[in-house]
Amino acid sequence: MNTVGIDAVEIWTGNLRLDLPDTFAPQKGEDPEKYTKGLGLNASSFPDSYEDIVTMAANAAYRLMDRKGLEPEDIGRIDVATESAFDNSKPVSTYVAGCLEQVYGQDFHHANKGERKFACIAGTQSLDDAYNWIKAGRNRGRGALVIATDTALYARGDAGEATQGAGAVAMYITEDPSLVELSTEQGYGSADETDFLKPNQQFPSVDGKRSVQVYLARMREALTDYESVAGDIHPDDIAYVPFHTPFPGMVRKAGLLAYRHVTRDTEIEEELAAEIGRQPRREAFDDEDAYREAVREYMDALKETDRYREWYAETIDPTLTISREVGNWYTGSVHVARASALKHALEDGRDLAGESLYVGSYGSGAQAEIHEETVVEGWEAEIEALNVDAQLADRHDLTWEEYERIHDAHNHDVDSDVEPLTTPEDEFAFDGWGPMGERQYRFVE
Ligand code: HMG
Repeated sequence: MNTVGIDAVEIWTGNLRLDLPDTFAPQKGEDPEKYTKGLGLNASSFPDSYEDIVTMAANAAYRLMDRKGLEPEDIGRIDVATESAFDNSKPVSTYVAGCLEQVYGQDFHHANKGERKFACIAGTQSLDDAYNWIKAGRNRGRGALVIATDTALYARGDAGEATQGAGAVAMYITEDPSLVELSTEQGYGSADETDFLKPNQQFPSVDGKRSVQVYLARMREALTDYESVAGDIHPDDIAYVPFHTPFPGMVRKAGLLAYRHVTRDTEIEEELAAEIGRQPRREAFDDEDAYREAVREYMDALKETDRYREWYAETIDPTLTISREVGNWYTGSVHVARASALKHALEDGRDLAGESLYVGSYGSGAQAEIHEETVVEGWEAEIEALNVDAQLADRHDLTWEEYERIHDAHNHDVDSDVEPLTTPEDEFAFDGWGPMGERQYRFVE
């Protein structure tokens, strides 16, 4: 069987932008650097009042299909991953197909459609579904359209409000892909957790501080599980590590944890030992608390070393460039991180073909997954085609009053009729409600 992976990717951001240091921080009475340096975010993307998870998904998918010259008959599956769905029965993928049918004048009746839910990790799980479908030989030569789309809103005043975001990532999964091949090996860390959930409610109930610890614990398990099937990962073998990025500060913690793990028992640990000692080993401590304290001290020292700083700057920081400007896109977030890394490599003129990405996905509730992706020859053309910089620059900058209105416009419990702040052009837009309470859409030229 040939290799299977991501053939093409497209990103679609919400058309509005909330500046965190200049607009959000003063209203919260916070130091702007809490956002820019602490969380690592400059801005969040928001959907205008005519945008939602369907329009963003359909726009990303249409741009991808159009650029690749794909017709509906080339698509055998449409899988949408989201945790912002507005219907408990009819999947978002059917709405997206309906949108695409308007512009193609052909149908997707032959395509298997679904919707995946497991918080933010559902986007990666949809990739798995597509991969497995192709590997099983059920695809009849067709590819799968996988779309991760979310409007990641928190209740006003929630600590998570600073990490909001909205956007979609569309990916085309095929045999002999043009961007990255996916490894068969995967590692999981999965547990019944209640750190972040939405029990029949739009905005999440979050235990923010604990969610950070749960993310790290599950990621550590996934890494150990991955190495148990694929062998140890050495830092020199990693081009980039795109992590799920609720905000870049989270990835700063995950990066440090990963580095400690992959340098253990290597020559790097020995070289660092002269400066900061060797890593604490559990068996050398009588009790768990003393061991944990020693690990904390080691981590604090490790993050100040030149060796770690250089590794972070080369391997992790480039994955965060887009995230800093858009916030958390939930299911799309790890796929934004991959795109960001590849974009950085392209801009640096780096020859990445044959190199490895280790992708660390995460969803609250909670589960982490790690797999390897190998960048393939020709990847540059795919990344060159992204117009994400132009999209980000074109967003309308929200005033505080506009932000409050737009948050209400997307709040299912508030009956509001908010005038759009931008004008849709060459994109799908919400067009009102149908007789059964369904949402309707049209393509605006
Ligand atoms: P908070 O309590 O407002 O912020 O909320 P803080 O006080 O913890 O400060 C954040 C960081 O900024 C800290 O850095 C501060 O030190 C620093 P750290 O110590 O952690 O490295 N800071 C400053 N730095 C420079 N100058 C300053 C300054 N002030 C503070 N002046 C919290 C933070 C994460 C709790 C909040 O944003 C939250 O609840 N977010 C939502 C939950 C979340 O994103 N969790 C992440 C893990 S769970 C996940 O990723 C899953 C998720 O995507 C959902 C899904 O899977 O569906 C969320």
